[in-house]
This record gives sequence, structure tokens and C-alpha cells, in this order.
Amino acid sequence: MLRGLARAAVQRQGALRTRGSGGGAGVPVHVVDLRSDTVTKPGPAMRRAMAEAVVGDDDYGEDPTVRELQEKAATLLGVDRTLFVPTNTMANLVSVMCHCQRRGSQLLLGQESHLHVYEQGGVAQIAGVHSHPLPDLPHGTLDLAELERMVTRGLGSPYHPVCELICLENTHSSSGGRVLPIDYLRQVGPTPLLCPPPHQPAPGFLSHGAPLRGLGL
Ligand SMILES: Cc1ncc(COP(=O)(O)O)c(C=O)c1O
Repeated sequence: MLRGLARAAVQRQGALRTRGSGGGAGVPVHVVDLRSDTVTKPGPAMRRAMAEAVVGDDDYGEDPTVRELQEKAATLLGVDRTLFVPTNTMANLVSVMCHCQRRGSQLLLGQESHLHVYEQGGVAQIAGVHSHPLPDLPHGTLDLAELERMVTRGLGSPYHPVCELICLENTHSSSGGRVLPIDYLRQVGPTPLLCPPPHQPAPGFLSHGAPLRGLGL
């Protein structure tokens, strides 16, 4: 529905422009299209940077540009290492597979999150992970009590899937690109019942798949 509304808004903008009422005489009208991050296009500087980038074999760790990007991201996030992948769908899947190491392990996430709605159920298809969607609250958050209830239910149970990961989308695209409150992230971060894999200090998920340290943004 959001996409439909956005499309209508852009068409209306176009109509205003053709009627000449979008800007004053001689003043260029700049339309900023915020339907999705996917409609943005690289400008001249970005095109130039891509064309001139020093490249190499990334498989051998010999692509200086990829290495620089990974090192920069690691410093930014305060983690030892990061991995560059070319799409966010891949990043999300890789991140889930890093955290959910058993087939049938449970992933808690918002029922409107991109990972749940738009990614072909890849975590089930490829990783054998069992997603349990929870209602997204108006700010794109998930109910803390419900998260705790779900995590607790699986502990030591011979019947229930064991939760290994909570995924939060930040910013939350289906809630209009809202940023999750930092206090909320801190409350979810230290959920002590989840067992973090050895290479991650706590379960966490940056909007496009990068791991956080204890959700401390
Ligand atoms: C929150 C979120 N996750 C994942 C994706 C998927 O990104 P990609 O098209 O790079 O796979 C998008 C794309 O809009 C997104 O908004």
C-alpha cells in the first residue's frame, strides 16, 4: 500500500510540475523521491569514484577498495572484522546464519520487517531457521514483554524452538523509515537469556545486517 501511495504522490508532483505551479518562474524544481532507498541513483561523483576505484581479487583478499571499506565499517561499529556483500538481502541472510547455528532455531522479528516480508523466506529456505513474527508497534519496535516470553518459553523445552536471534529493523521502513529509540535498543540488547555465539558479544542486528556490539549504537 505504501508503494501505491508513494507512486500516486510522485505522479501528483509530476502533474504539478507540468502545470508550472511547482516553482516560481525560472526557478528549477527539485523533486526528492523518498519512496525507497532503491530508487536513488548515483550522482557524477559516485559514478566517477566507482569507475576509478582500485580493484583486485577479493577472494584472495587483494581488493584494496573492499578491504578499506571493511576496515572502515569495523572501526565505525567497534567490531574486529566486517564482510562486504553486494546486497542487503545477502547481508541479512549472512547475519542470520552467523547467529542461528542450528537448523530449526528460532528468530524473532517484526511481522512487517523487510527480512520477513520481502526476502523470499530465505532464512527458512536456505538456513532452516524458524521465524516467529511479532506485531510491529507504531514506532517499529517489538513488545519487550512478548520478546521475553518467547525467549523464555524455548529454554530447556523439548517441544519449542530455541530462540537464537532477535532482529530489529532500524530504520524501520514499513513504519515510514522511523529510527528506533536508542533506549529501546539498549533494553533489547542485554536480553540475558539468549546465548551469543562466540564471535558476537550479544545478539543484534543493524538495519542492513551489520552486527552491533550489545546493540550499543
Ligand atoms: C530494510 C531493508 N532491508 C533489506 C533491503 C534489501 O536490499 P537489497 O535490495 O540490497 O537486497 C531493503 C531494500 O530496500 C531494505 O529497505
